[in-house]
Amino acid sequence: MPLLLCCDDEQAPAERLLAALQAQGPQGAGPTEQTAWRLAVIERHRFPDGEWRLRLPPALPADVALYRSLHQPNEKLVELLLAAPAARELGARRLWLVAPYLAYMRQDAAFTPGEVVSQRHVGRWLAAAFDGLVTVDPHLHRVATLAEAVPVGQAHALSAAPLLGALVAQRRPGALLLGPDEESAQWVQQAAAAAGLPAAVCRKVRRGDRDVEVQLPALDVRGRAVVILDDMASTGRTVAQAAAALRAAGATSVDVAVTHALFSGDALAVMQAAGVGAVWSTDSVPHASNAVALAPLLAKALGDLGR
Ligand code: R5P
Repeated sequence: MPLLLCCDDEQAPAERLLAALQAQGPQGAGPTEQTAWRLAVIERHRFPDGEWRLRLPPALPADVALYRSLHQPNEKLVELLLAAPAARELGARRLWLVAPYLAYMRQDAAFTPGEVVSQRHVGRWLAAAFDGLVTVDPHLHRVATLAEAVPVGQAHALSAAPLLGALVAQRRPGALLLGPDEESAQWVQQAAAAAGLPAAVCRKVRRGDRDVEVQLPALDVRGRAVVILDDMASTGRTVAQAAAALRAAGATSVDVAVTHALFSGDALAVMQAAGVGAVWSTDSVPHASNAVALAPLLAKALGDLGR
């Protein structure tokens, strides 16, 4: 029986994922008590100097998936650096990473000489450590596919955009879906198609971490409910700039739907000060705004793995 391995602080999301797998059943047919996967925990101990000691189940089956969402990624990448080869030593022959949020995807080019293209190097390293990857809405801008960014045997990029679109259609029927920059077109179009909502995208210029300029599309937003939809918000400045421009242009409400609620520092306060009302996100990153559970989507992908 294949094994879903999670780190001890990920127990709750992994349990939800396993519950979804159980509801789905091994062949995806109806509720059943059986599932193709069972859950085990990687125990972690932090030594006084900050290093990790990890402990995996001592005998692993041939098929193992390691569940780790990679927000705040630096320490988690070290966990993977230790856990992936250890899993192979303990018996895993096919090893997948299930990372609902995949980090280091935005630095996909060197903008100044010597700048490290993190996407390429993290991607190659993950591909060397794992046989397959399942993730949700990876930030792919200058590369077309997940397999280009992470050249792993099986690369599955799932999208939460249709789920977010359905949520928006329910909470703000008829709203305009607005992507805050050109890259967001891929997610906005999927959400709009799934929910039957109108959509448009802005143009964005980024000058620094917290210095962005967003230009609205040539549309009359007076009296309209608008929902800004993107793969993620980090500092919240992109959303805030778009929201302020929409409010100034007469939008009656501006809400936000993102897959990954990174929300660093004062992001939420900055967005709210710019006129944002509701904020909805998936549970790829645990946050009070989580309104969409990814477990059914991930369970379907896990059910299909290795077939
Ligand atoms: C990049 O283009 C992403 O899709 C987001 O728009 C971006 O990461 C948001 O960053 P921030 O919230 O820091 O403006």
